[in-house]
Amino acid sequence: MSRSVLIAPSILSADFSRFGEEVRAIDDAGCDWVHVDVMDGHFVPNITFGPRLVECIRPWTEKTLDVHLMIAPVDPYLETFAKAGSDIITVHAEAGPHLDRSLQVIRGLGKKAGVSLNPSTPENVIEYVLDRIDLVLVMSVNPGFGGQAFIPSQVEKVRRIKAMIAGRDIDLEVDGGVTPETAPALAAAGANVLVAGSGIFKGGAYAKNISAIRDSCLLSA
Ligand code: DX5
Ligand code: ZN
Repeated sequence: MSRSVLIAPSILSADFSRFGEEVRAIDDAGCDWVHVDVMDGHFVPNITFGPRLVECIRPWTEKTLDVHLMIAPVDPYLETFAKAGSDIITVHAEAGPHLDRSLQVIRGLGKKAGVSLNPSTPENVIEYVLDRIDLVLVMSVNPGFGGQAFIPSQVEKVRRIKAMIAGRDIDLEVDGGVTPETAPALAAAGANVLVAGSGIFKGGAYAKNISAIRDSCLLSA
């Protein structure tokens, strides 16, 4: 059976001096979503950018802006990221004590709500919020940096979450170390959206790199 996965390039690996042009380039290269990694130097050991960047890149693409918030606390910033033009807002289950509330706030702002899990976080933390989410984001590296090695144990987590989703309209996305080598097992386990940073921006051949990941899933399915 052939599976088609959506490809979401992470602009963490883009040229930070030319975000607008880089977003336009990955759009032209055939990406499905644009993945925006927001880091605060507190929840994760790196700092990237905030809602103003989302606002600035919004006019450069009509594709889904998939905003991954690696920040704590997260609740005080949800409205600002929504108003900046995010389409999906994903929060980490580990980022605060009130995941259910954060998800309600995101949907209340008219946005799709996502939950992300660090590699060491078990999938059962989403059991009681399954009806409040539009996306689950499985981290296959420890969040904070691009270019890290894929953690193979996360393939089984994807498989278990796919079973938990049980036909609900929830996207299952994986982020970290995704390449044409690691993507096929993720797609086979049930992932339907793959994030890739270095694997797409490296070398500048964006269309070729996007196709290579997408095609690797089709070939092995
Ligand atoms: C890591 C970020 C990822 C990262 C992936 O904290 O959430 O989106 O950019 O980069 P690669 O594809 O290089 O592992
Ligand atoms: Zn990410």
